[in-house]
Amino acid sequence: MTQIIDGVAVKKDILDHLKNEIDNRVKQSNKQPGLAVIVVGDDPASHVYVSMKKKACEQIGIASFEHQLPADVGEDTVASLITALNHDDAVHGILLQVPLPKGYNETTLLDMISPEKDVDGFHPINVGKLLLGRPAFQSCTPYGVCQLLDYYKIETAGKHVVIIGRSNIVGKPLAAMLIQRSKPGNATVTICHSHTQNLEEITRQADILIAAIGQSKFVTADMVKSGAVVIDVGVNRVEDPNADRGYYLAGDVDFNAVKEKCSAITPVPGGVGPMTIAMLMRNTVMAFKQYG
Ligand code: GUN
Repeated sequence: MTQIIDGVAVKKDILDHLKNEIDNRVKQSNKQPGLAVIVVGDDPASHVYVSMKKKACEQIGIASFEHQLPADVGEDTVASLITALNHDDAVHGILLQVPLPKGYNETTLLDMISPEKDVDGFHPINVGKLLLGRPAFQSCTPYGVCQLLDYYKIETAGKHVVIIGRSNIVGKPLAAMLIQRSKPGNATVTICHSHTQNLEEITRQADILIAAIGQSKFVTADMVKSGAVVIDVGVNRVEDPNADRGYYLAGDVDFNAVKEKCSAITPVPGGVGPMTIAMLMRNTVMAFKQYG
């Protein structure tokens, strides 16, 4: 029987623990962790993510400060807001939702966030520390993937992990996490991308195959070794006039076909997605404990 990895249940468990931790801290010090979220423009997917983040904050007792700015507000205004939040003692974590509308320099703005408040783990200081194996804020989606592997006791030591996708948010940090001398870690990691030759030959060698390319049903059953663990990071909107909202969400993996062949798999939705939110909450609580 293939195990369906339940990110919703793991998220709930993590949030319950965090809520306890926050309740205890509030009782002791009367201080509460705070997360500021900046959204520029009206990308519908961003608004969905942000409302889920807000709901998680409310659930566990993190104060959430939402800054919704119009698409034409300008880079200087966003930069001034980040500076103000860097100095705001009630704010322990700052998240700038990406992608930003056209015309904004994402790198410049993300780099302005204080590394001590960078709960997204996007700042070069945190990315560098991660690569060096030093304590750092870790990017929430790859961190969530590692937590799922750990939670389900999926061994990574000595295993061949193949990651499809080399993004700064998922592929690169995930590789850095899985090669560390820690648990989960000690894996042999291969990163594949658009220039990889004989991709299927490589993916078929994977004990753990992780798809993070943003293309619906990219991973087909013939690309997967029998008994492999398959982690699907993709969240793709597939247009469907029969669906309630005119689209449905699909991962990067052809779930129905691949689940017949692998030993464990994450569904979309309900796999990695909820873990991203859980890790954001954990990072915010960590920022609060370290610097609050
Ligand atoms: N856009 C999609 N996912 C994320 C995320 O985890 N963090 C930020 N800042 N933007 C995102």
